[in-house]
Amino acid sequence: MSDKAILEYNGQKYEFPVIKGSEDELAIDVKTLRSATGGIITIDPGYKNTGSCQSAITFLDGEQGILRYRGYSIEELAEKADFLEVAYLLIFGELPNKEQLSKFHDDIKEESTVDEEMKKILDSFPKSAHPMGVLSSLTSALIAFNPSTVDVSSEDAMYHAIVRILAKFPVLVAWTLRKKKGLPLDYGDDTLGYVENIHKMMFKRPNKTYVKNQIVIEALDKLLILHADHEQNCSTSTVRIVGSSHAGLFASLSAGISALWGPLHGGANQAVLEMLQAIDDDGGDTKKYMAKAKDKSDPFRLMGFGHRVYKNFDPRARIIKKAADEVLGDLGIEDPILDIAKGLEKEALEDPYFVDRKLYPNVDFYSGIIYRALGIPTDMFTVMFALGRLPGWIAQWREMRLNNEPIGRPRQVYIGENSRPFVDLDLR
Ligand code: ACO
Repeated sequence: MSDKAILEYNGQKYEFPVIKGSEDELAIDVKTLRSATGGIITIDPGYKNTGSCQSAITFLDGEQGILRYRGYSIEELAEKADFLEVAYLLIFGELPNKEQLSKFHDDIKEESTVDEEMKKILDSFPKSAHPMGVLSSLTSALIAFNPSTVDVSSEDAMYHAIVRILAKFPVLVAWTLRKKKGLPLDYGDDTLGYVENIHKMMFKRPNKTYVKNQIVIEALDKLLILHADHEQNCSTSTVRIVGSSHAGLFASLSAGISALWGPLHGGANQAVLEMLQAIDDDGGDTKKYMAKAKDKSDPFRLMGFGHRVYKNFDPRARIIKKAADEVLGDLGIEDPILDIAKGLEKEALEDPYFVDRKLYPNVDFYSGIIYRALGIPTDMFTVMFALGRLPGWIAQWREMRLNNEPIGRPRQVYIGENSRPFVDLDLR
C-alpha cells in the first residue's frame, strides 16, 4: 500500500504523505497543501472527512460499533471499573493502581469547595434558566475565583487545574439542581466515593438522613462511564479549539458545555424523553411518529436515532438498554415510555428508511429513561451528560496542550460580493 497520495490539478501533481493510525485508519496529511499549491485549500463542512488531530485517547469504529478508551473496551470498563478510575485512565493514559487512585481522590476532595461568592452569581439566575446555561456560566465564573488555573505551562499546574475542576464541577451541578428545587446549597461528604458524593450533594434533603441506594449509585456510575469520552465530537472539538488559544481549562470547558447543550448533540437525551412523553400523551401511537420521522416535509426527527459516526449499533446504547431494564426492574418502576421506546426501536430496525440510512439508537435513546427512574429532572439530563463527559474533555484538552498543537483556525471559501463602492444612506 502506498504511503503517498497524489493530487493532480491543472496539469500539476502534488504529493502528500498518508499517515496510518494504530488501528490502520488512513489519513492524507494535507498540512503543506496551501503552500505547495499556492493557495488551494480543502473544504469539508461539518468536518465529515477531516481529522483535526492525532489522539491516543479514544478509538471508535462507527461501522463495527466499537468504542474503546485507551485500548479498553467500553463494555469491560462499564462492567468492571468505576467512574473515577475511568477518569484517571482517560486523562493520564493508564488505569490507576490503588495508591494512584487514592491520591487522585484525596487531591480532588481537598479542592471540593466553591467560593461562597459564587452563590450570589447563581442567585442572580431566574429559576426558569436552563441548567446548561447556568452551568456554562458558573464554570466560566470559577476562573475569577481560581485565576491560577489559567496559566498552565507546567504539568503540575495542569494537574492542579484538573483536580480543581473535577472537585468543583459536581458542586456546581448539585447547586444548579438544588437552586431549581429551592433546596439549601451545601457541600459534599468526603467519606464517600466520588459518584455517591455527587448523588448525595444533589439529593440530600435538609430534614432527612441521606440513605445510599446501591442500585442507583451503580447505574449512575455506569452512565457517567458511558458518556466519559467520544473522541472529536462537537463539544470535544470545541474544548480543544478554545484551549488551542491557551484560554485555560475552565474557559475551554465552559465552551464545551455550551456546545453539548444543543439538541443535535448532548441535548438529545432531554429531547428523547420529551418526545417519548409526547408520544405517550398522544395515545402511544408509535406508527404515527415513525411516519412523521420519515416525512421529509415534516421537521420531526426520531430523537436518539442516528449518529454522525456510528453506522451500526452504538455500543453504549446496547449497554444502556440492558441497564434500563435492570434499573427499572430493581427499583420496581413500570414506566410506559420504556415500552414506547422499545416499540419505536423495533419498528425502526425493521423499516427500510432507517435501515438504508443506517440509523440506529444512539447513547441517548435509553439514557433519559434511566435518569428519570433515578429521580433526575428532565432538564438536568444534559447536565448529567456534561458531568460524565468532563474527564474526556479534560483528557483531550491536556493532550492538545502537551502536544503543543497550534491554534485552531480553519479557512473558508469566500462567496460574497466582490469589492464595491460604499453607498450613502440617503441613496440606498
Ligand atoms: N430521524 C429521521 N431521519 C433521520 C434521523 C432521525 N433521527 N437522523 C438522520 N436522518 C436522516 C436524514 O434526514 C438524512 O436523510 P436523507 O439522506 O434522506 O436526507 C439521513 O438520515 C442522514 O442524516 P444526516 O442529518 O445527514 O446525518 P448526520 O450524520 O449529519 O447527523 C445526527 C447525525 C445529527 C445525530 C442525526 O442523526 C440526528 O439529528 N439525530 C437525532 C438527534 C440525536 O439523537 N442526536 C444525538 C446524537 S448522539 C450525541 O451527540 C451524543
